Amino acid sequence: EKDGFEHFMLKEIYEQPNAFRNTLLNRIDEDGKQIVLKDFPLRPEQINRFEKIFIVACGTAYHAGLIGKNVIEELARIPVEVDVASEFRYRRPIISEKTLVIVVSQSGETADTLAALRESQRLGAKVLAITNVQGSSIAREADYVLATFAGPEIAVASTKAYTSQVIVFYLLGLYLAQVKETLAETERECLIANLRQLPEQAEKALQHADDIRVYAESIKNHASLFFIGRGIDYAVALEGSLKLKEISYLHSEAYAAGELKHGTLALIEEGTPVIALVTQKELEEKMVSNITEVKARGGNVLAITLEGNVELHRNVDEVCFVPATLPVFTPILTVIPLQLISYYTSLALGNDVDKPRNLAKSVTVE
Ligand code: M6R
Repeated sequence: EKDGFEHFMLKEIYEQPNAFRNTLLNRIDEDGKQIVLKDFPLRPEQINRFEKIFIVACGTAYHAGLIGKNVIEELARIPVEVDVASEFRYRRPIISEKTLVIVVSQSGETADTLAALRESQRLGAKVLAITNVQGSSIAREADYVLATFAGPEIAVASTKAYTSQVIVFYLLGLYLAQVKETLAETERECLIANLRQLPEQAEKALQHADDIRVYAESIKNHASLFFIGRGIDYAVALEGSLKLKEISYLHSEAYAAGELKHGTLALIEEGTPVIALVTQKELEEKMVSNITEVKARGGNVLAITLEGNVELHRNVDEVCFVPATLPVFTPILTVIPLQLISYYTSLALGNDVDKPRNLAKSVTVE
């Protein structure tokens, strides 16, 4: 059932292009002009009533929510707050009928996320669930469900479920923008055209596996690693760091690059591996200045950036390119090399990749 792959995780990483295709299927109209979300049957006046959106989830699903916030705020201009479910439920969140709560859960069974859903409904909010398991508790109890069609995810480390959740956020962000008329038609059509290219572009991003395997060998004996990025890249840095910790057991941390000099820079030593996500043109100059600070302390920097950005070579030790796309869509491509880095590092260290120590696939206790 691993289809010739050594581990479920690797198989699931390679299943991503198809998971995206299946998740996009029937959700874009034939001429590529509109998003169609039959499973979210709210009238425009109901959507216009939402003053705020909460996204609540745990772990990797929370990281998908951070991308969701960026996407919805950027495209539909609705304020979004993201919270981890175990915090949200105990902090008396300010919610009303004018709030839309989105819970994100691959399994649909995570105890804290389910409790957050119930608490939100009790406070009068409508809850939209993004989940991969149709008959799950969260799918049953939510008011609306937008399914990810990633297929079963077996490896404890989530990969294709995460990226499929991000795809749903793209659809949702574009849909809300359509209803709220926050984008010009041509702009929306351009975004939709680029969205449709992501499955193929993900296939291309997967072609770097061999280089990444070599890189994984070079980091496996380091005590500590750092992931840095700004804006939407920072959200991806958090996911890359979690993935690495989860299955390689190496210590790593993700930082908003501008925060480095407020403390973390003290930890950079000769040879410390730093993975920098550099995909947002308007933030690139700032990123390069942060990278220069890291390099001045001896850090070894791998940059993940978009094809064509060759000048970056001058500022870093190594570069990994992913296909170029619009700024809002980069996370889905840049996370792929990060997934592969964690996979190959775990493999090189001889760990049980699919079943890391101390962790369970579904966390049904609080
Ligand atoms: O099933 P869920 O999406 O609700 O699970 C949430 C987290 O437990 C999960 O994403 C966890 O962080 C993953 N093992 C990370 O790879």
